[in-house]
Amino acid sequence: MNELKKAVVKRPDMSVEIAGIKLRNPVMPASGTFGYGEEYTPFIDMEKIGAIVTKGLSLKPKAGNPTPRIAETVSGMLNAIGLQNVGIEAFIQHKMPFLRTVNTPVIANFFGNTLEEYGEVARRLNDIPEIAAGELNISCPNVKQGGIVFGTDPKAASEVVALVRKNLQKPLIVKLTPNVTDITVVARAVEEAGADAIACINTLTGMSVDVNTRKPRIANMTGGLSGPAIRPVAVRMVHQVVQSVSVPVIGIGGIVKAMDALEFLIVGAKAVQVGTANFVDPTAMISIIEGIEAFLIEEGIDDIHELIGSLRL
Ligand SMILES: Cc1cc2nc3c(=O)[nH]c(=O)nc-3n(C[C@H](O)[C@H](O)[C@H](O)COP(=O)(O)O)c2cc1C
Repeated sequence: MNELKKAVVKRPDMSVEIAGIKLRNPVMPASGTFGYGEEYTPFIDMEKIGAIVTKGLSLKPKAGNPTPRIAETVSGMLNAIGLQNVGIEAFIQHKMPFLRTVNTPVIANFFGNTLEEYGEVARRLNDIPEIAAGELNISCPNVKQGGIVFGTDPKAASEVVALVRKNLQKPLIVKLTPNVTDITVVARAVEEAGADAIACINTLTGMSVDVNTRKPRIANMTGGLSGPAIRPVAVRMVHQVVQSVSVPVIGIGGIVKAMDALEFLIVGAKAVQVGTANFVDPTAMISIIEGIEAFLIEEGIDDIHELIGSLRL
């Protein structure tokens, strides 16, 4: 009976456009929780999700931080992976051959340790025609300026976005850090500097102590908090950013189920990313996509745009 019902119900249009990229639906992985895509092929059909987002790429390979670098917390986790990645050259050589075979837009998340490095990685992305867009991670310390995090200072954020905008001949998504007093100030600065879309949020800085050893549970001392624990903070920030800029916003933070993703869409996110949930259930994104579709059918909504930004006050 259910199958029969499915066959006669018109399927809602779930497609959205972000910075000129057409996505079949608004659900994609959050960088760093989905490897380079291929790792998840035993679990999900890559052509069912809206986009693939790569692990953060840098100019040179990066080994990351010493272990332990992850710790479970209440409804979430702390990580201080330290942006371990294969580097842009190995990515092109060893990871792109798989990504080229998939009929789903690929978004390359990237970062630099200095302003110049950010600019250089952006330039290298131009050599990969199959990359649909760049997602710029500005939650990194500027080693040349005493380690101040680019994304916590509107001026530094604006500088890095302007340089990357100049060098990158592809749509540019800028991913914001929540570790600021007023995220709208940085959001406006990066929009003005040329961001085509904004993704938020990255992880919240946290710390946890093992009381038996009295040592930090993460060798790096602090780590980034992610998972359901951060969702209300993320929804609040996405709502604020949507109200402050006119470029599309991608909502991230603690999405586990369709209902969580719907919260972000209702406050105005045009798409969402799923991070930590992929570690718990590698098929989470598929259930989320199906759940959003079921909700739209239930509500009699033909086009997901009717839901996006439909918050009632
Ligand atoms: C293990 C791990 C690695 C991550 N690596 C990156 C990264 O390379 N680049 C980036 O922009 N964000 C990275 N993030 C942040 C996530 O993309 C996401 O913004 C954050 O985890 C919040 O979403 P969630 O609560 O759904 O996990 C990472 C997160 C985790 C847990």
